[in-house]
Amino acid sequence: MTIPYPSTTPAAVTPPSGAARPRLTFLGTGYLGATYAICFAELGYEVLGFDVDEAKIAMLSEGQVPFHEPGLDELLRKNLASGKLRFSTSYEEVAAFGDVHFICVGTPQRADGMAADLSYVESAVTNLAPHLTRKSLIVGKSTVPVGTAEWIEQLVRRHAPADAGVEVAWSPEFLQEGYAVEDVLRPNRIILGVKSEWANAMLYAAHKGVFDLAVTEDREVPVVVTDFATAELVKVAANAFLATKISFINAMAEVCEASGADVTLLARAIGYDSRIGNKFLRAGVGFGGGCLPKDIRAFQARAQELGVGEALRFLHEVDLINQRRRQRVVQLAAELLERPYGPAGPDLSGVRVAVLGAAFKPNSDDVRDSPALSVIRKLARSGALVTVYDPEGMENAKREVSDVSYAKALTEAVTGAELVCVLTEWEEFRSADPQTLGELVAGRRIIDGRNCLDPALWTAAGWEYRGMGRPVLS
Ligand code: UDX
Repeated sequence: MTIPYPSTTPAAVTPPSGAARPRLTFLGTGYLGATYAICFAELGYEVLGFDVDEAKIAMLSEGQVPFHEPGLDELLRKNLASGKLRFSTSYEEVAAFGDVHFICVGTPQRADGMAADLSYVESAVTNLAPHLTRKSLIVGKSTVPVGTAEWIEQLVRRHAPADAGVEVAWSPEFLQEGYAVEDVLRPNRIILGVKSEWANAMLYAAHKGVFDLAVTEDREVPVVVTDFATAELVKVAANAFLATKISFINAMAEVCEASGADVTLLARAIGYDSRIGNKFLRAGVGFGGGCLPKDIRAFQARAQELGVGEALRFLHEVDLINQRRRQRVVQLAAELLERPYGPAGPDLSGVRVAVLGAAFKPNSDDVRDSPALSVIRKLARSGALVTVYDPEGMENAKREVSDVSYAKALTEAVTGAELVCVLTEWEEFRSADPQTLGELVAGRRIIDGRNCLDPALWTAAGWEYRGMGRPVLS
């Protein structure tokens, strides 16, 4: 049944398990699923987290979060202790326990193209469905191409017992790494993509903890109830917009570089117009991470399949601008070190470069598609002797790039360096003292890939400073 105008505050429903509040399961305990499972237990729900990765489940069950996210460890331990939160590798247990099953598995970029790889989604649904012997709701949260929810419905029809009445819904998430706990407990909106009044009521009940918390804090959480396709599109459209905003200001940085203007002042000035806003206008080495880069590619691939590829052709340009910023750092390095920059890039052989930052953004240990790692690889390929330091991302970086050195501390990384590149704006780097570091380096040259340092301060301490899209101070 399709409900044309679902209600935003549906009547209460009794969960099929008979529990007072729906029991929730989260399939896939990566960044998304683990954070949601822990936070929803914190909101008072009985929660079961599932993953096929036994090592990950063992870690979580012992109270260890497998990634760096401020505040999450504490909540994990608290909710394991209270008994509200458990983890399992058994589909049977998930099916027997849950009223609402959230699909949170990864949807990485396919190895053979730009599209999203839906094999983990398919596997989660087809393995769970046969065990669903009573009514329940499967809710997609992973970022997927539009049309996936309909396909999941077909999978459920094929694999779940016919008389169980299992339904499907879609509710995208918008958590930002580094702010994940806050984003889940206090979301800025909730999207419910549903087809029936029951699914709407069940999904509403599964979020009641979020609404109740908002009431106690005198806040409102806007709810948008939609069809499947719109719910799926909300997520990719939002990420496409954010990526476009970043590439817009990075394109302006290119123009600033050619004209002697300062992109940081430009961003501040245009940001005062509330129609533009001042967020996501930080020019630098561009966007990375597990979401924006792959999402804009998958979105283009899906639009192509739908016959509207032209509508998203600009996202290709957004991607290209983003890639060019990474190369720009290498170009600046050649300039500062007075090395020739040929069509094959510069020759930086033997130059000692300290890179500060490996994570795709601060307060995260995530190095997926990190601009910093990409620049590190480019510098190493140009012959530079690179030493990397990142407060949290070292272990993950080491797994990705092995032909560079890793330092245990900021001071160790910069000692003897002829060039320092700041590629992730950790507080430790922003507040570093140019005078102290100046005494450790072999040459006072710095590239501020995130425009996070004060050029006047560094220049006054005798450093040759280069920002992204900023004029050269002398
Ligand atoms: C993003 C979306 O923000 C989030 O809503 C969605 O659910 C998942 O994808 P996340 O990947 O955690 O979240 O990082 P985000 O804070 O958006 O930053 C993405 C990248 O853009 C980072 O590499 C960051 O350094 C870069 N960035 C961000 C800029 O270069 N300039 C900016 O102004 C903002």
